[in-house]
Amino acid sequence: MAALLIHRVEDAVSALRDGGLVALPTETVYGLGADADSPTAVERIYAVKGRPPGHPVIVHCASAEHAWGWASSTPDWAVGLADECWPGPLTLVLPRAPRAGDHLTGGQDTVGVRVSAHPVMHEVLTQFAGAIAAPSANLFGRVSPTTAEHVASGLGDRLNPESDRILDGGPCTVGVESTIVDATGGGPRLLRPGGITASDIERITGLSVTETDGRIRAPGSLASHYSPQATVILAEPDQLDAILRSIRPHDSHSPPVIGLIAMTDVSVPHEASVVRLCAPQNTAEYARVLYAALRHADDNQMDTVVAVPPSNHGIGAAINDRLRRAAHGQGDTRSP
Ligand code: TXA
Ligand code: MG
Repeated sequence: MAALLIHRVEDAVSALRDGGLVALPTETVYGLGADADSPTAVERIYAVKGRPPGHPVIVHCASAEHAWGWASSTPDWAVGLADECWPGPLTLVLPRAPRAGDHLTGGQDTVGVRVSAHPVMHEVLTQFAGAIAAPSANLFGRVSPTTAEHVASGLGDRLNPESDRILDGGPCTVGVESTIVDATGGGPRLLRPGGITASDIERITGLSVTETDGRIRAPGSLASHYSPQATVILAEPDQLDAILRSIRPHDSHSPPVIGLIAMTDVSVPHEASVVRLCAPQNTAEYARVLYAALRHADDNQMDTVVAVPPSNHGIGAAINDRLRRAAHGQGDTRSP
């Protein structure tokens, strides 16, 4: 039986040409890719992820010129934004060209396009000479993968070892998904915060960024996305002690196992049952390690993860967004 995990770009390209799925590294998170021109290949992405139909997928292209081919028009400000930010962690939602079929757009009249900065993804796209449709390579609603091992542990038994592959390109350097900007209206609308911040977009375009008006459906904005199995509680540093002490075990016979996600300068009250999942030194590192930390909590059957969010500055806005979603309906103890 052929091995799922591969290291050669050529092997990824031949799997894509044969209609298979290939999980691929990007600088944000790993994607689960298929030939964007093949509705049957793209349909399998949905089956493997357990993703409901009608969710659009991002079309990854080797260059901006290729990306524009999937859109019927692109406003000048969006071209300028792409000039500055591509290759990079930015997805643009544009009016679709006929080539962008319903299998990519979820039946909407828009298409999401992105040019990733990851050299391995870029090489696959160049050799493939097509576009790759790819959502994040996780089960629907779960935490996105930032290593090939994460993909294998989440989707390995759902992929077909005859046709599908996981291309190992090392850990992702950004760690949270791309910024999504809706460019179908008069100015930039932020559908999902990411590595490119709202202030970057305002500086580059000279336009003010608005939040989405809900007209465009972006399922990544479902409130309960990005959930680990553990209960996630958000806490400010001055509440940490009290919150840790208030957590009751899920199983009353053993002490609770609590994972902590906080910057290195947040000191942990001495508690035998608290396991520090990461201690990032800055927000960029926080973004890079966040999803691995949440997975680690699940792999070790932790009941609860307490996260002290970073400041909302820069990529901190994306981290706060993902943490809020991970904690949704669970335990955000902070005041609104
Ligand atoms: O960083 C990323 O963006 C990663 C890497 C693999 O590129 N991809 C990713 O894909 O996060 P996914 O499918 O997990 O999240 C993409 C989001 C979804 O919420 C989807 O609804 C939205 O982008 N999206 C894609 N095309 C869209 C469209 N035409 N209109 C509105 N939203 C769109
Ligand atoms: Mg996703």
